[in-house]
Amino acid sequence: MSDREINSWEGFGEMRLIYFPESRDSYIQEAVEQYEKILRQQIERCDKMEEAVEPKDYGKLSTITIGLCGGDGIGPVIMEQAKRLLHTLLEKEIADGKVALKEIEGLTIENRLEKGKSVPADVLEQIKKCDVILKGPTTTPKGGTMESANVTLRRELDLYANVRPVTVPEEGIDWMFFRENTEGEYVLGSSGVEIPGILDMDFKVITDAGTRRIARTAFEYARKTGKTKVAIVTKANIMKKTDGKFSQICNEIAEEYPEIKAEDWYIDIMTANLLNKDIRSQFQVFVLPNLYGDIITDEAAQIQGGVGTAGSANIGDQYAMFEAIHGSAPRMVEEGLAEFANPSSIFKATEMMLRHIGLTDASNRLAKALHTCCETEKKLVATGLRDGATCKEFADYVLSKL
Ligand code: IPM
Ligand code: MG
Repeated sequence: MSDREINSWEGFGEMRLIYFPESRDSYIQEAVEQYEKILRQQIERCDKMEEAVEPKDYGKLSTITIGLCGGDGIGPVIMEQAKRLLHTLLEKEIADGKVALKEIEGLTIENRLEKGKSVPADVLEQIKKCDVILKGPTTTPKGGTMESANVTLRRELDLYANVRPVTVPEEGIDWMFFRENTEGEYVLGSSGVEIPGILDMDFKVITDAGTRRIARTAFEYARKTGKTKVAIVTKANIMKKTDGKFSQICNEIAEEYPEIKAEDWYIDIMTANLLNKDIRSQFQVFVLPNLYGDIITDEAAQIQGGVGTAGSANIGDQYAMFEAIHGSAPRMVEEGLAEFANPSSIFKATEMMLRHIGLTDASNRLAKALHTCCETEKKLVATGLRDGATCKEFADYVLSKL
């Protein structure tokens, strides 16, 4: 019987922990060993990031394979309509064999729970055979040890840039968020340390290489689109090592872009700034660590009209995955509202995907239709409630404008 088993024997574990310091020692020892393992894995990940990889050139592929994952909750409902758009927009490309649409089976919460894997191996294999993925939201079990499918896919496919545009034309808001997507609070989010009854500790990881690549992506975007400012958003006054390094490296990269002004901001005041109508339209491009990016992009999406209106791109050098910014909305399904889900989010993601893989005409056609339906004409509005259009009705409306 191990020391640990004796300690928790007959439910006296917590008492022993408090009163017998040697049992603390065994937890500490275990945590130190875990920490060493984690540290070595993360350093290995850094070494891999430093190896130069040529980004995939979609223009050179004879066939671009688009993988389609329905996901959970309202996922299959909105994805069904996104597929209709793709079949219409890419009719010629599909007929010519330039594009192949491939259904990915098994990225469902039922299958994931049954297999005990956030992304079962055979599902990951199917996904890796594709060039890009359009994915419906997936459900993440709360607590336990199962990682979110999103986090697994972002890591396995090394999708380091989470790119999220938010616009409110009538207010002059044109924001582009570059959220670091593979590290920060997420990378070891399921590998924390627990000393039962005493404390829990999670880890946040910021790497030089990981920060350089997201910073470069943000500044390159700013340069290409003629933007003049990039906001580097952290909490470097408190998270001195990780956010301190993130800010420092972003500022170093900024020196390569003298025409662009890099501004350091703290995340707390930035969340307030986005609600401040007097100044918010001045912001253009944001670069942030993972969790801050997660939170602030939901806030930004809400300002645009709700999370149902925002698309999200997960970009890596070899793969890219496009999805709605929001989750699977199990509550909507429970309340019988799934058919009223707003598909605008996945439609925007579709538009971004088409642009990313070089199908610019199809992307522009969709962008124009979405602009008419969501911003100018607004004949039908999907509110996510019974008072709004159904998902299918809204899709018919967009299809009619293609
Ligand atoms: C997002 C989502 C995910 C995240 C969840 C589903 C794991 O909120 O893409 O923003 O936290 O990144
Ligand atoms: Mg989120």
